[in-house]
Amino acid sequence: MKVKVGVFFGGVSVEHEVSVISALQAINAIDRDQYEPIPIYIAKNKNWYTGEALLEIENYKNIDSLLKQCERIIITTNDQGRPVIHRHTTGMFGKKLISEIDVAFPVIHGTYGEDGILQGYFELHGLPYVGCDVFSSAVGMDKVMMKQILRDSGLPILDYHWFYSSNWLNDQDALIEKIESELNYPVIVKPANLGSSVGISKATNREELEEAVELATEFAKKIVVEKMVTNLKEVNCSVLGDYEEAESSVCEEVLSSTDILTYQDKYQSGGSSKGGGSSKGMESTNRKIPAEMSDEKTAEVQKLAKDTFQTLGCAGVSRIDFLIDKNTEQVFVNEINTIPGSLSFYLWEPTGKSFKELTSDMIQVALKRERERESLTFSVDTNLFAMHSGGAKGGSKSKLGSNS
Ligand SMILES: Nc1ncnc2c1ncn2[C@@H]1O[C@H](COP(=O)(O)OP(=O)(O)O)[C@@H](O)[C@H]1O
Ligand SMILES: [Mg+2]
Repeated sequence: MKVKVGVFFGGVSVEHEVSVISALQAINAIDRDQYEPIPIYIAKNKNWYTGEALLEIENYKNIDSLLKQCERIIITTNDQGRPVIHRHTTGMFGKKLISEIDVAFPVIHGTYGEDGILQGYFELHGLPYVGCDVFSSAVGMDKVMMKQILRDSGLPILDYHWFYSSNWLNDQDALIEKIESELNYPVIVKPANLGSSVGISKATNREELEEAVELATEFAKKIVVEKMVTNLKEVNCSVLGDYEEAESSVCEEVLSSTDILTYQDKYQSGGSSKGGGSSKGMESTNRKIPAEMSDEKTAEVQKLAKDTFQTLGCAGVSRIDFLIDKNTEQVFVNEINTIPGSLSFYLWEPTGKSFKELTSDMIQVALKRERERESLTFSVDTNLFAMHSGGAKGGSKSKLGSNS
């Protein structure tokens, strides 16, 4: 029997369209001898759908017509507690079940897909899933939490300062003084939990700092101000595996048209990867693969990528982005993308791993985590109410002990 893989995509984040492309690429790549991919599309209005029509990219030009060809669904559990896909509405005698589902494969970037929320939904349904768990997904989305953990583990990050937008409102002068004395200009100001460069700007003086913070507070209540690397080389490296075993991909160098790599740079510049053809990732940033770096620097970045991945407790495939100061050659971990665009397949192909093998490995990591989870004890199959039928006082000690 083939493993039924529900590929979840779309979602309500700004990266909805990017997710559709990444997911269709992944569905095409999945090994049909072992797995049966089932597309599960989360429309922008939050309704969930399945159907063959979802597999054709052209159909997304007219969403209303696409959805009419699909079945609206819910994920639920059957009487045995197994996760299943049901029709959202059925007539009196209609069949509810569309399919059982063995493993979920989320390919949703950003909010509600990459931040642990969807992963929590899978957990509640006892549905094994590909990629990072709730905790590592959530930490990966929060630049402050991520930096705190990485710094505590001795991984190199840029000096930064963070605060809530309410701190800024109440104590702006003190914050400015702190930033100016600890970081110096220029600095980069970012909302803590967005992606795609939204709300990010640089500040070279106090006036610009105030503007940059005002902008960032429109998008998040947690704000990060960090030292800006002025002579910058941006390098990304993907990692595949889990807390026990992980490997790094080749590195890519991303080339920006401005100081800050913008959403347009990332998705609309129409650049192509070296090698072209099937190696072209979704993010059409102008890129060099492999990045132009000495073998030594490459090894350093690959090691830092793997350490970052394992420190944060990641699983499946992630992409870790680095900022390299060309003046000092220092490497800094910038951020992690726990569901990277195109699942970073174009960084694995040059290592000899096809997209098909990559998706198989990712599913296998998910099933391994499930096996490990099954061997842990979460609850005790004892009904305390039934055991203590004599009343609340006294009675024999349950397996849970007397002071649980
Ligand atoms: N400290 C920094 N110094 C120089 N450039 C930076 C710095 N931080 C971010 N940038 C630029 O801004 C871009 C977006 O920042 P990033 O932290 O990656 O946010 P996002 O999560 O939106 O991708 C980076 O790709 C880089 O071009
Ligand atoms: Mg980035």
